[in-house]
Amino acid sequence: MPSYVMSTSTSTSDPNGSTVAVSAVGLRKSYGDKVVLDGIDLRIPTGSVFALLGPNGAGKTTVVKILSTLVSADDGQALVGGHDLAADPQGVRAAIGVTGQFSAVDGLITGEENMLLMADLHHLSRRDGRGIAGELLERFDLTEAANKPASTYSGGMKRRLDIAMTLVGSARIIFLDEPTTGLDPRARHTMWQIIRDLVSDGVTVFLTTQYLDEADELADRIAVLNDGRIVAEGTAEELKRLIPGGHVRLGFTDPDTYRSAASTLGEASHDDEALTLQLPSDGSQRELRSILDWLDAAGVEADELTVHTPDLDDVFFALTGGTDQTKESAR
Ligand SMILES: Nc1ncnc2c1ncn2[C@@H]1O[C@H](COP(=O)(O)OP(=O)(O)OP(=O)(O)O)[C@@H](O)[C@H]1O
Ligand SMILES: [Mg+2]
Repeated sequence: MPSYVMSTSTSTSDPNGSTVAVSAVGLRKSYGDKVVLDGIDLRIPTGSVFALLGPNGAGKTTVVKILSTLVSADDGQALVGGHDLAADPQGVRAAIGVTGQFSAVDGLITGEENMLLMADLHHLSRRDGRGIAGELLERFDLTEAANKPASTYSGGMKRRLDIAMTLVGSARIIFLDEPTTGLDPRARHTMWQIIRDLVSDGVTVFLTTQYLDEADELADRIAVLNDGRIVAEGTAEELKRLIPGGHVRLGFTDPDTYRSAASTLGEASHDDEALTLQLPSDGSQRELRSILDWLDAAGVEADELTVHTPDLDDVFFALTGGTDQTKESAR
C-alpha cells in the first residue's frame, strides 16, 4: 500500500478523546560521557504544530533523529503515529516524513528527478509520481528550475526542494528540522502557508526552529530544550507569561491629568517627558480587569492604554541563557 493513502487511524487515543500523534516518555541519549537528552517527555496531538526551541547544541536534531528512527535512544519510550519506536520502527517510518537539518537533495540530478526518486521510494506508479512531483514543484515555485541540476539551485531553492521531497509520501506526521533556515522572508511566509495547509488537512507537524517568530506564528505548543531537559512547555502566550517584564502602559496628553494620575498611582514607574505610567502586569484577563477596576476607583482616566507582554525572544533568553534560578522559577 503506498504510504500516501495512510490515514490517521494509526494515531492513539488520549484520555480526553483527542488523538495523539507523538508521545514520548523519558527519552535519554548520551554521546560518550556527554548527556545530550536527560529525560524528555512529549505529547503532540494529531493535527497540531509542535515547535521545539533551544540554543545550538541543545539536542533538537537528536530528538528529531530519535523520533524518526535514525538514531536510537539509550532509554525511554515513544509512540509515533501509534507505532512503538523500539518495537515497530518500520511502522514509524511508514507514518512519517522527515526533512533533516541538512539537505537530502542530490545535486547531480535535476529537481524533478529528485522528486521522482522520492516517488519511487514511496512505490508510487510512474503516473502518480509525475503528477505529485509536478504539483509540488509548482507549489514550491520550482517548475521553471525543475529540469536543471539541483547543484545549480540557490540555498533557498534547495531547501524548498528538500521539503517538497518530504511531502511526496503524503505522510500524516512530518518532522521539519529548521525548515526555514536560509530562506528569504517571502519564501519563509510561503513555507508557513504550506505548513498551515498541511495542518488544516489534519497533518501533524513537528518542527525545530531558531526563529522565535516562526514558533509564535505557527505552533500550537512550544517546548524549550536546554541542558538536556525541557525547561518550559506551553502555548506561546503561556510561555510569555512565565517571565517577568509584562506591563500595562498608560499614556496621557494633558500634563495636569498625568501629574494627578502619577501621584495617585504612586508605585507605578513614570516617564515625565512622555507622560506615561507603567504598571507591572502579566497581561492576563484577570489582572487587566483588576487594574482597570482600580484605575476607575482611583478616578484615573488615561488617553491610551497598551498592554505589553514579553515576546518569545525574552522567554528564550530567560530560559536558556539565564542563571539556574531563572530556569528554576520558570519551570
Ligand atoms: N553523532 C554524534 N556524535 C557525537 N556527538 C553528537 C552526535 N550528534 C550530536 N552530537 C552532540 O549532541 C549535542 C546535540 O546536538 P544536536 O545536533 O541535537 O543539537 P541541535 O539542538 O540540533 O543544535 P543546532 O541548533 O546547532 O542544530 C551536541 O553537543 C552535539 O555535538
Ligand atoms: Mg539541529
